[in-house]
Amino acid sequence: MNAKKEIKDQLKRPVRDLRISVTDRCNFRCAYCMPAEIYGERYEFLDQDSLLTFEEITRITNLLVKIGVKKVRITGGEPLVRRDVDVLVKMISKIDNLADIAMTTNGYLLPKMALALKEAGLTRLTVSLDTLDDAIFREMNGRNFGVKSVLKGIEAASKVGFHPIKINSVVQKGVNDHTLTELAEHFLNKGHIVRFIEYMDVGTLNNWNMKHVVSAKEIISQIKQTIPIEPLDPLYEGEVAKRYRQINGTGEIGIIASVTNPFCGACTRLRLSPEGSLYTCLFGTKGTDLRTPIRNGASDQELVELISTTWYNRNDQYSQTRNINPAENTNKKVEMYHIGG
Ligand code: GTP
Ligand code: 5AD
Ligand code: SF4
Ligand code: SF4
Repeated sequence: MNAKKEIKDQLKRPVRDLRISVTDRCNFRCAYCMPAEIYGERYEFLDQDSLLTFEEITRITNLLVKIGVKKVRITGGEPLVRRDVDVLVKMISKIDNLADIAMTTNGYLLPKMALALKEAGLTRLTVSLDTLDDAIFREMNGRNFGVKSVLKGIEAASKVGFHPIKINSVVQKGVNDHTLTELAEHFLNKGHIVRFIEYMDVGTLNNWNMKHVVSAKEIISQIKQTIPIEPLDPLYEGEVAKRYRQINGTGEIGIIASVTNPFCGACTRLRLSPEGSLYTCLFGTKGTDLRTPIRNGASDQELVELISTTWYNRNDQYSQTRNINPAENTNKKVEMYHIGG
């Protein structure tokens, strides 16, 4: 099939990034995402037949690259609990005109998986780690896993050549906000990039309240008390993280201000759920089902039409309008563990 004309959405944004959630399962139970009291032993996650196969995911990715996607990020739930996920990475890495295949993981299974991922062609890795304080981390991940288990994963990934690794820390007021400098210093010394993320109202389960948010401004001023930093220019338009350079060194940190300084205007991200629905926003309520047409024998042409129409109709800008339409905030948003970060 020939390359298609670029499709823009209702706000004139092209599609550039595809985020593929490969499972709704996770070995952690972070309170802000999958609270343990709700997602207990008997919670029914998607069954194997409902999940898109690797062939189906690769087919969709291939079609999306033809209409403009340049970057793929594999997420979950926790992507490393999907069996043989490295095989999927290998399949995606063979797609022409796709230079970047990244993954966001909680890092716990990296000692076992890092080498296979590198060999499969994964280009970049982001590891979620909210704090280095062991007691707080054990509490935050809901499964009593120690910080060491994640640090081991980061080390394993570093050893096989992932560098720099991005470390994501979701900042919650009164939970981990007094531990940010320690986290930044630790990873600056290792040449990795810590990104502090403003706590968001994703999903419906975390009882989010603006009072729990520590603003980018507050985060920066806290870091600056110990580490001299200055802003850097964005690497590309619509970059999610605002980047800062360490003045007395070569390190970098990032701040993701999705609450106090939303970046919907340049949002080129499309999300594919584990069971094959396309979501045009992290705060979406309803996806476009691709699995049914695929399993009913739809042609590539038909799938491209469906995907293009979905993108063409897109007018999402949730973070930009969060404060204007608070009623929107109570509806049935897709959960973060289902659609990925
Ligand atoms: P690269 O630039 O490819 O390294 O990735 P990124 O900066 O987009 O970072 P990543 O995908 O790791 O996203 C980091 C965090 O930013 C996510 O875990 C979310 O919390 C938040 N985020 C990412 N994309 C969006 C988005 O489209 N909307 C909102 N509101 N938040 C987002
Ligand atoms: N606000 C901000 N970031 C979140 N993440 C999960 N839930 C939230 C939230 N409510 C982050 C995780 C991980 C990525 C997948 O999304 O910490 O880094
Ligand atoms: Fe798992 Fe990530 Fe959700 Fe934590 S935030 S429960 S690690 S999917
Ligand atoms: Fe994109 Fe929706 Fe996030 Fe805005 S809120 S940046 S439209 S995913």
